[in-house]
Amino acid sequence: MDLYEAIEKRKSIRKFKPDTVPDTTIHKILSAGTQAPNAFNREPWEFILVKDKTLRDEIAGMRIKIPPQKVALETAPVLIVVCYNNELAEDALGSAYACIENILLALTSEGLGGVTLTFHGKNIKALLKIPDGYDVATVIPLGYPDESPEKPIRIPLDQKLHINEF
Ligand SMILES: Cc1cc2nc3c(=O)[nH]c(=O)nc-3n(C[C@H](O)[C@H](O)[C@H](O)COP(=O)(O)O)c2cc1C
Repeated sequence: MDLYEAIEKRKSIRKFKPDTVPDTTIHKILSAGTQAPNAFNREPWEFILVKDKTLRDEIAGMRIKIPPQKVALETAPVLIVVCYNNELAEDALGSAYACIENILLALTSEGLGGVTLTFHGKNIKALLKIPDGYDVATVIPLGYPDESPEKPIRIPLDQKLHINEF
């Protein structure tokens, strides 16, 4: 799939078929993530693949009050947890998000779906044994889409574009 086509096609998917995603495909997607620009080339990211059903259900349970997120987390056959070394503060989170966008585009081009879910707090860090010095940038439920939502319409570029001054 052409890059611009992947950019157009990418949209947040929050419901998945139970089919397993091959490890080779997951590795290809994560390798695309690691090609992202990142501050000082420190590559602050670390990835945790959560395949274990009990763990996935525990993470879904953290979103019990937000049904679309809970459904995404409990139906996806695998979760990609992107952690980052928080030594570089904003730069590290910015780098992590460059990596996350590469992951989202790569999974789209593989015919897969996903969504970036914000996870703050200690619960997920404790559950996944994430050491001090690292935070969670996102949890991406990944799988074959079992829904086809409309992509939210974007504000036309000419309303966002400024030339020379704001
Ligand atoms: C930094 C960031 C945090 C997000 N956090 C959440 C989230 O916690 N839950 C969620 O359902 N979607 C989350 N999203 C996905 C957005 O809701 C989604 O990208 C936006 O509504 C546009 O829809 P689209 O991705 O289908 O184009 C997040 C996206 C970004 C970039």
